[in-house]
Amino acid sequence: MERILHEDVKETYQKERFTLANMDNNQVSNNENSKLDTFFQTMISEMYWSEKHLVNVLETMKSTATTDDLKNAFEAHMEETREQLQRIEQIFDQLGLPVTETNSIGMQGLFDEGWHVIDETDEGSFQRDVALVIAAQKVEHYEIACYGSLVNLASLLGYKPIVELLKQSLKEEKETDVKLTQLAEKQLNKGAKNEPADEPPANAGGKKKSVKASSKEERESSASPKEAKPRKTTAAGTSGRSKGTKAKEESKGKK
Ligand SMILES: [Fe+2]
Repeated sequence: MERILHEDVKETYQKERFTLANMDNNQVSNNENSKLDTFFQTMISEMYWSEKHLVNVLETMKSTATTDDLKNAFEAHMEETREQLQRIEQIFDQLGLPVTETNSIGMQGLFDEGWHVIDETDEGSFQRDVALVIAAQKVEHYEIACYGSLVNLASLLGYKPIVELLKQSLKEEKETDVKLTQLAEKQLNKGAKNEPADEPPANAGGKKKSVKASSKEERESSASPKEAKPRKTTAAGTSGRSKGTKAKEESKGKK
């Protein structure tokens, strides 16, 4: 099934693909003109959108994390993500295509979940870090699936230089996933296990309603075409709600 491309992107592809008579040696031999090739380019465009926005998301995760170890892990992967972004720009260059970005619906959903995590956990708690690690690992696993698939497609399409670029990013995503698991197992999960749960406040019902209303406004302004279902709100979650909202607004301003 052919992927639906944004009309502007599609038009650009049609104009510029396969018309490059004088490719230099760094460009791949773009002699494919198949549905698979189109699908591959769309995925690359989605990865560009994802990595670009992930830089800001990681910056927010870093600023809202509790422990220095997790802050440092997010900082390190933010730098890697900037390099991954540059690799995708190289891929476009090697394909002889302009850099384009296409909204990734899957990644948008994971980003939205990240905002909820910040909203629904207590600032300064291990609980916050446990939730951030899980949210980040969902992103990493998604990226591992994407890069892993792209390596296979690039190989099949004969894009050897691109295969190597994709493999490097895939390796970094896997290493980040392992690093996050180690952090969780070494300290964060046990720390959160020892944190006493808050008693629900007397007016918890009212606060929860307010929280959900706030979240709904956020989701309606989100780039995601479909509204995510609200997560179960815990008593602990009410205190940090404004954090995620503020962080998201700041991050969106940097896009
Ligand atoms: Fe990445």
